[in-house]
Amino acid sequence: MRRAGLAMTLTLPGTDLSVRLARQCAGLTLPGVGCLPSVVADAEAVLGELGGNAVRHTASGGPHGEFSVEIWQRIRDGRTVVSVAVHDQGSAGRPEVRPVSTSAEGGRGLLVVAGLARRWGFASAGTGCGRVVWAELEADHSDGCLAGDG
Ligand SMILES: Nc1ncnc2c1ncn2[C@@H]1O[C@H](COP(=O)(O)OP(=O)(O)O)[C@@H](O)[C@H]1O
Ligand SMILES: [Mg+2]
Repeated sequence: MRRAGLAMTLTLPGTDLSVRLARQCAGLTLPGVGCLPSVVADAEAVLGELGGNAVRHTASGGPHGEFSVEIWQRIRDGRTVVSVAVHDQGSAGRPEVRPVSTSAEGGRGLLVVAGLARRWGFASAGTGCGRVVWAELEADHSDGCLAGDG
């Protein structure tokens, strides 16, 4: 049975280890609210990219930096969606899908997020309060590995 509501909230130091930890927490938490395995995997991937960006591209990765994660399961227009939001501590730049050459090793994180999410975006969290980058995943599709759970 899928349960709507807050699935997870965490505030962690802005390190790569924290990003890993947040991913693992999502992997443990989301099945408990009825998420299909494929949706859990997508949410973990999205969280890894958004959390990694907070640490790499914003003040969250600086001295005493931190970032926060919220994951909600919601019913929207009769469909279940999982929204993953990462609140960072801000930067001069902004999150945007950048063109990358085929030989480049990195630079595809938001491209991956855009591919996995039904929509994604970002918003200021208020002057001097950083930014929230979010992505919304369709939770009703099945990967064929799990019978429908109603
Ligand atoms: N939370 C963020 N705040 C500010 N800029 C960001 C944020 N996330 C991503 N960006 C910008 O968007 C670009 C594209 O991000 P991404 O596709 O994840 O590639 P990468 O992280 O490998 O550079 C980054 O290089 C960065 O300039
Ligand atoms: Mg990235």
